[in-house]
Amino acid sequence: MDVWILFNEDIEAPTSEAYEVRRFMAEGKIMGINVSVFNPEQFDLVVTDDDQNTILIDGVARELPDFVLPRTYVKDTGYFALAVIRQFERMGVRVYNTAHTIEKVADKLHTHQLLAEHNMPTPPTMLAKFPVNIDLVEQTLGFPVVVKTLLGVNGSGVFLIENREGFKDLMDLIRETQPHILLIFQKFISRSKGRDLRLFVVNGRVIAAMERRAKEGGFKANFSQGGSVAEFIPDAEAEMLAIRTAQVLDIEIAGIDLLFTDDGYTICEANTFPGFKGLEMACSVNVPYEIFSDMMREMGMSPAHPDYDENGVRIEKAQNDDAGEFSVANGLGEAASAA
Ligand SMILES: Nc1ncnc2c1ncn2[C@@H]1O[C@H](COP(=O)(O)OP(=O)(O)O)[C@@H](O)[C@H]1O
Ligand SMILES: [Mg+2]
Repeated sequence: MDVWILFNEDIEAPTSEAYEVRRFMAEGKIMGINVSVFNPEQFDLVVTDDDQNTILIDGVARELPDFVLPRTYVKDTGYFALAVIRQFERMGVRVYNTAHTIEKVADKLHTHQLLAEHNMPTPPTMLAKFPVNIDLVEQTLGFPVVVKTLLGVNGSGVFLIENREGFKDLMDLIRETQPHILLIFQKFISRSKGRDLRLFVVNGRVIAAMERRAKEGGFKANFSQGGSVAEFIPDAEAEMLAIRTAQVLDIEIAGIDLLFTDDGYTICEANTFPGFKGLEMACSVNVPYEIFSDMMREMGMSPAHPDYDENGVRIEKAQNDDAGEFSVANGLGEAASAA
């Protein structure tokens, strides 16, 4: 079985994303899967109405793989990478998270529109329109309010604005410097300040979940923002919300973020390139194994893994060169079960 990973960074880079690609390569080796990594820029796309069973990589025709796994995370999945992904789809290759899904989910407003259409709980959200009607924002969402860039990832485009004055100052600054930026305003879910849940869904199954906590005093719980992580055993409601969200948005490999409310959860966002370094540190889960196993089942093969016992419980993961770089917070278990 051949799996091609699309990745637009050096696989030896010190980032979590490169680490995760190396995890796929290491697990693939153990599972007998041929894993190759290509940069979307290496492909030349030729569109014809002939049947094609090859694609050009660095100018050389290569037979198509069984699966393509895009890991060109959202902010870099521009037109070119999407066109490459679509080319594979059109040639009949199974792509785990299609171009359509990637584009749809990258847009946070579109995500909330679809979820709201399906009566799924989401925080009230507005698309920014300049000049901003501050009274309307105050009436609809109140202060503090959350401001997000439409396409942001990793928490870098998310801000908590405490009051009307701060909001007005920020909007004045944006009008002066970035008048065309796309922003959303969202109701601040105060009960969830500085913590959230991340559920990892593969083909409709929650394979693991963690609670993330922001650094002391922080508001964003992203692992990439220095948040700490601890395993979370999802209750039925969290599990149902994550599975339904992935289903409504058509995501095969999904990271679903939930916020805590007074009576349960509300959906913060969905991700099509969910990182899993923090998740594998916090939980006893082998993410590449779960994904590759599903691919093998799709091919009518039965996944065997030397690291798994006959009940499918993981004994040990493939050795990672830099596992342990992140520390897993202790003492979150109690809070997690109380939530
Ligand atoms: N409406 C909100 N209320 C409370 N906290 C929020 C809200 N929206 C986001 N957050 C916090 O900010 C983090 C990043 O927001 P998110 O929308 O997931 O953006 P990103 O795509 O950059 O991860 C979340 O993980 C959560 O901790
Ligand atoms: Mg997020």
